[in-house]
Amino acid sequence: MCGIVAYVGHQEAAPIIIKGLKRLEYRGYDSAGISLLNGGLHVYKKKGKVAELEALLDGESLSSKIGIGHTRWATHGEPNDTNAHPHRSASGNLTIIHNGIIENYAALKQELLKKGYTFTSETDTEVLINFIDDIRQHQQCSLGEAVRQALNAVVGAYAIVVMAEDNPGLLVAARKGSPLVVGVGNGEYFFASDATPIIEYTNEVIYLNDFEIAVVNDGRLVIKDTSDIEKTPYIQTINMELEAIEKGGFEHFMLKEIYEQPRSIGDCMRGRLNAAEGRLVLGGIREYSNKLTHAERILIVACGTSWHAGLVSEYFIEEFCRIPVEVEYASEFRYRNPVINEGDVVFAISQSGETADTLAAIESAKAKGAIIFGLCNVVGSSISRVSHEGAYTHAGPEIGVASTKAFTAQLTVMFMIALRIAHRKGTIAESKYHQMLVELENIPGKVEEALAVDNQIKEIAARYKEARNFLYLGRGYNFPVALEGALKLKEISYIHAEGYPAAEMKHGPIALIDEEMPVVFIATQDSSYDKIVSNIQEVKARKGKVIAIVTQGDTVIPAMVDHVIEVPATEEALMPLVTVIPLQLLSYHIAVMRNCNVDQPRNLAKSVTVE
Ligand code: AGP
Ligand code: GLU
Repeated sequence: MCGIVAYVGHQEAAPIIIKGLKRLEYRGYDSAGISLLNGGLHVYKKKGKVAELEALLDGESLSSKIGIGHTRWATHGEPNDTNAHPHRSASGNLTIIHNGIIENYAALKQELLKKGYTFTSETDTEVLINFIDDIRQHQQCSLGEAVRQALNAVVGAYAIVVMAEDNPGLLVAARKGSPLVVGVGNGEYFFASDATPIIEYTNEVIYLNDFEIAVVNDGRLVIKDTSDIEKTPYIQTINMELEAIEKGGFEHFMLKEIYEQPRSIGDCMRGRLNAAEGRLVLGGIREYSNKLTHAERILIVACGTSWHAGLVSEYFIEEFCRIPVEVEYASEFRYRNPVINEGDVVFAISQSGETADTLAAIESAKAKGAIIFGLCNVVGSSISRVSHEGAYTHAGPEIGVASTKAFTAQLTVMFMIALRIAHRKGTIAESKYHQMLVELENIPGKVEEALAVDNQIKEIAARYKEARNFLYLGRGYNFPVALEGALKLKEISYIHAEGYPAAEMKHGPIALIDEEMPVVFIATQDSSYDKIVSNIQEVKARKGKVIAIVTQGDTVIPAMVDHVIEVPATEEALMPLVTVIPLQLLSYHIAVMRNCNVDQPRNLAKSVTVE
């Protein structure tokens, strides 16, 4: 986890790095630090957010045309000033920022201790920088060569940038398993965990590949791999608006991202769907298209919210395509030796495209011969690059740690994929196919309508903000939405919440119901409507407080529950795109009312790039 930023060029490095760290803070916010060259190699670092670091820097003379910065999500050693990055080698000559885990750090540390090295922090990173420095000193080699040799001995994941006191124009960066983007400016270079710190200065970027080492020396960039073979850099032009990564008048990124959904769902369909012409095109699925259509079994691997999107996708694919689907937590899949047969297809769903568990699940499925389709939001991310084919969700940068617009975009793409397979296989009637396309095109408007309940939700949030527990219940397509609603509440408001299939409640969770327990029912008018009405009765009979998400115009449920939130009607399969909206808003308002840090909830980070 964590965010890294580095700069070398003709501008002042510190402001560029600090601004960049703020953009990357969603990746981790245990501590922040910066290293600059200003009459010697200086390191400033502080536990807490980038704002704490800024306070520490106040009044310091920071002039430097080169620098590295880090915002941490701790893996080795508690979040404190000492364990904060950058780390300096014992000689004082080198500093490093690191995202990832050096798995064999303990063995390397033992070797270095024997040589007389001492360590001030508990991190794996401090071991790595001393290991690099040791090689450099003993072999009298360049920093690039020392990094190369060190990385050949390292097991684990890393994106690193190293700078040296004795070379003010030199930065050495490398990656394996953690993301690293190089921004190519006019005589200047930027390094960052994603493109957001870079786009203000240049839209020319290079996505470093695993095992590549980038050396910038006196304005010249050379990329080699860890076998010392020079690589031709592939410079891409990225198309990201600055506005997309700023709050745009909203109090929090999460709220902005919730409100963006009519647009982000539209962006996801743009150029792909034309209902009037019955056209559905997914440019990223070509060569393996037949394999997908004729898949005998589909596996979906993902984590968290993306896993919930996977559950909804299972319903899409099984209903429309009649292909058996299994949805797995990526972290479980990778360690349980799953059976993969010839003709099986694996979908990996991930907003960030960097989730370590999902990446590892892909590797293990690939090794067993599966065809991998990656569904990512972040363009150029690791998962998008290791997949055989796939589709981007095009939701734009999602900064709030709680995923919102990425989820609805994932559902949109998976719905399109399912319809496309079904149409090719002939498992969907022509008339139904067209009806689905038309209704999908209507979804942005319906999401807009669903957002109109915001004020009503604020009132409900005020009423239940002190609750200690919440239950979320739904059936069919709305069951994964119940899970998602509960996850949203847990992660940003720290209220314990459970999502359950409504019918499963009587097998245990019903014991929790009393007059204190708020129960959110997602009870839209679909094929299980009558059944869920009975489930509501069961809760009311035990005096639970019911908040029901219902279809506009429903008169039955409002007569029996405590609070009603209406959403517009749509096709049953598309309902999750609409019903999740009030649940996102409910968690958001409760978290704000509890004074929680909505965009950066405790203990979490946006992309979990460690196991
Ligand atoms: C969602 O709100 C979470 N913060 C988290 O569960 C997230 O969905 C999960 O870590 C997966 O991330 P990814 O989609 O980037 O792979
Ligand atoms: N393993 C390093 C640490 O604990 C880096 C973690 C990160 O990616 O932020 O400091």
